[in-house]
Amino acid sequence: MNMIKNFLNFSDLNYSQINDIFSSQQESKILEGKNIGLLFEKHSTRTRLSFSVGINKLGGNFIDIKFQELNISRNESFEDTFKAMDCYLDGLIYRTNDHQKLTQATQYFKKPIINALSDLSHPCQILSDLFTLKEHFGSLNCQILWIGDMNNVCFSLVEAANIINEIDLIICSPTYISNSINWKIGSNIRIANDINDIDLKNVCCVMTDVFISMNDQDNEEKISQLKPYSVNSELMSKTASNSIFMHCLPAKVGFEVSGDVFHSDKSIVWQQAYNRMVAQKKLLQFLFQ
Ligand code: CP
Ligand code: NVA
Repeated sequence: MNMIKNFLNFSDLNYSQINDIFSSQQESKILEGKNIGLLFEKHSTRTRLSFSVGINKLGGNFIDIKFQELNISRNESFEDTFKAMDCYLDGLIYRTNDHQKLTQATQYFKKPIINALSDLSHPCQILSDLFTLKEHFGSLNCQILWIGDMNNVCFSLVEAANIINEIDLIICSPTYISNSINWKIGSNIRIANDINDIDLKNVCCVMTDVFISMNDQDNEEKISQLKPYSVNSELMSKTASNSIFMHCLPAKVGFEVSGDVFHSDKSIVWQQAYNRMVAQKKLLQFLFQ
């Protein structure tokens, strides 16, 4: 099995490593005697808790580092902060507004670092969402519609689709957003700007996320531009009969998704939330084997 040290972007993994992670057996006490720091510069419910409980289940100890209580908020340098953490910790789960800080941190912190969400990407979310999709349909041979903002979660999904060719990914987002990105887009990925231009009948999974992410300013203009890109029951009725709705959460019901879809039988958002813990335990086992 090939090894990687850090998981900063989905593209850190290759196809066989993704399969190895998904098919691994669980519940070895692989983190026994290990101390893993959780450093969150911004809010989190699922990522913080799913990693904390997952680390406990793997026999490890998690340390919830209070960012505001570190001397970095009294002007200790970034370098010295991460060198100090390297003296004590065996791994770090790090959420930051600035993806470059994750890359910089790897220069000073020499043990595994996992991206717990940055402005650029949210690879743990997509790893566990693809695990959920595979669990639900039995394979990733699926047409996914991502609709709404092309944000950090969408970026990780695109990186995943670039590696996993059986995914057929359609992205529907306003022109001003799709024109502003310069991501690598594989031949199994299409971008459309109008939902009426997409034949939805084979779509088996509709994914979306909030219109305004944590790193965005609260932007009324962006909300109004994204309004036509909300998921509602009319859209879902045009998709495959066995289609599902996915959302990484937290959701703003009534904005990117209507209440009747969010609470419908098609919605598997709580299975997704639960599987954050399942898939991240598999990731931890993979990184710390
Ligand atoms: N989906 C997700 O990462 O949720 P949190 O922001 O609550 O961690
Ligand atoms: N795109 C969202 C994801 C939250 C899990 C954000 O960055 O706020």
